[in-house]
Amino acid sequence: MKPLRIALSKGRIFNETIPLLAKAGITPVGDPDSSRSLIIKSNQPGVELLIVRSSDVATYVQYGGADVGIVGKDSLLEHGGEGLLEPLDLNIARCRLMVCGHPGTQLDEPQHRFRVATKYPAIARAHFASKARQVEVIKLYGSMELAPLAGLSDLIVDVVDSGATLEANGLVPLELIAEISSRLIVNRASLKTRQQPIANLIDKLGPKD
Ligand code: ATP
Ligand code: PRP
Repeated sequence: MKPLRIALSKGRIFNETIPLLAKAGITPVGDPDSSRSLIIKSNQPGVELLIVRSSDVATYVQYGGADVGIVGKDSLLEHGGEGLLEPLDLNIARCRLMVCGHPGTQLDEPQHRFRVATKYPAIARAHFASKARQVEVIKLYGSMELAPLAGLSDLIVDVVDSGATLEANGLVPLELIAEISSRLIVNRASLKTRQQPIANLIDKLGPKD
């Protein structure tokens, strides 16, 4: 029997997921922090962890490279969710997806075409379209806060937690797009073929009352 494959990214999500998996009786074998291996075995022969970029988790699960995944709602919204089920809010890596920019920026200036830098182009386009605002979206892969400082864009769309990164760069949050937390996602076909182990995992990771 193939092991159940769980896709997740190293860093914040991995660190916050390990205690949850431990409660489900799943612990990684070896030291994942120092390991360069991208498939990490667990103490359960039936469960493996796949290490992927956080923006690739939904794609791995969509195409069945992994049966389940743990991913921020921001990445999930950007992906679109095709072929995926989202049975559980894990309530970890909480933050807010926001439009940010220089203090005093008026988002509803008529006729103004804002330039928006972001690693979430689909979300940004959908958000500004829903407000009937004209925008030009510039795709970046990180350090979004630099874009308005360098004159690359008027606005950014990024996640905000404490607000410290915005503050350190003289920017402010202007508008909320969505509250974000990490979700357990499941490949639709895997839910049928691996029904029992996936149901077990959902049960063990879900809220306890
Ligand atoms: P990629 O490598 O694909 O660009 P990333 O660098 O955004 O991904 P992380 O920084 O580990 O990856 O973030 C993973 C997830 O954690 C994000 O998708 C988001 O849901 C959440 N997150 C990001 N920044 C914060 C933050 N400052 N506080 C809380 N949660 C955050
Ligand atoms: C994320 C995000 C912001 C920052 C917000 O970056 O892109 O820059 O966190 O958090 P704050 O409001 O608490 O300052 P991260 O630290 O993950 O670095 P990254 O650019 O490598 O994703």
